[in-house]
Amino acid sequence: MSKVELIDGVYWVGAVDWNLRDFHGYTTPRGGTYNAYLIIDEKIALIDTVKKAFSGEMLARISEIIDPSKIDYVVSNHVEIDHSGSLPDIMEIARNAQVITSEKGKEGLLRYYRGNWNLRTVKTGDELELGKKTLFFINAAMLHWPDSMSTYIKEDKLLLSNDLFGQHIASSFRFEEDACCPPGYERDVVMEEAAKYYANIFMQFGALILKKIEEFQKLGIQIKMIGPSHGIIWKNPEKIIDAYVNWAKGISAQKAVVIYDTMWESTEIMAKEIIKGVSESGVEASLFHLRRNEWSEIMKEVLESRAVIIGSPTLHNDLFPTVGGFLVYLTGLRPKNKIWATFGSYGWAGGGVKGINDKLKSAGNEPVESLEVRFRPDEMDLANCYAMGQRIASQVKA
Ligand code: FEO
Repeated sequence: MSKVELIDGVYWVGAVDWNLRDFHGYTTPRGGTYNAYLIIDEKIALIDTVKKAFSGEMLARISEIIDPSKIDYVVSNHVEIDHSGSLPDIMEIARNAQVITSEKGKEGLLRYYRGNWNLRTVKTGDELELGKKTLFFINAAMLHWPDSMSTYIKEDKLLLSNDLFGQHIASSFRFEEDACCPPGYERDVVMEEAAKYYANIFMQFGALILKKIEEFQKLGIQIKMIGPSHGIIWKNPEKIIDAYVNWAKGISAQKAVVIYDTMWESTEIMAKEIIKGVSESGVEASLFHLRRNEWSEIMKEVLESRAVIIGSPTLHNDLFPTVGGFLVYLTGLRPKNKIWATFGSYGWAGGGVKGINDKLKSAGNEPVESLEVRFRPDEMDLANCYAMGQRIASQVKA
């Protein structure tokens, strides 16, 4: 195992989960990592731990650097068990270590582990001197849980941000500049995964993200490097901070995404005609059948698209169950600054399109137009679908 040193005296001691494919419903085709960081100074601090199953891997990495029993502080930036799962194991070894966490973090850790640990709570502005290095704590409540916080090493200008700025990607590389674009690759795979991660975990917290970035500036926090708790480490943090600002503001590309399910292909025929109208008007468009595509991947397209067009057949006088389930997921993530449109089909009684509209409206998203077809779309219906695609494209370009 080779040591990974981010900066003098700060090591990555996390674990790579190459076979992670499902992260509580979020699909992770590229795997993931759980990042923990070890700081060697007069006092030794471990920032976060890893998922329980990877305790051994983390301890082996730490042992290559120091005897884990010598750890003085374990900072728990976030209670979720992908970061705190190995805390009981490390506390069994580092018996004199103090656990540092937020007030809410203490509540969560005690509920999860009931450990008889020396716990200290911190809030924004609290500091901990390790020797030459000083840890500065920043509360990050709701980014993305009430207990979340980040730890900043003042002298190194290194932000150990926890979930914020992460991505689910397993790589043999630890730094973004190495992992993003292997030779022969045109695509920036780290940014692709960062976008998907933001879309599925942080999209609903855009306003808080903008405030937090402002707060960093007010606190005089200059960031030279970001070590998130998932994925690749950012040596050029402007790239991901700028992307977060754009995503948080709801800035998206001139793209449209059509998302639908279908029973007897009528809604699908409509979807394909709408997308034809959009794309033949010069706007990039993508199409997602809800039972053929992963919802977390669709949400990345929603994040990046200016227009979101959702279609459903009618079942039991209401929308189709997959469309309903997806809308619950989508509205919970609160996409902003989108052009919404809806469409669908029915046989004897309508309800599908109304169901989509009701759900969107209850989340504050007013569709600019809706289109419903009975049984099979005829030539006139198809022309209407195409024209709807054209109008949406015009609005996307406007
Ligand atoms: Fe990576 Fe919120 O846990």
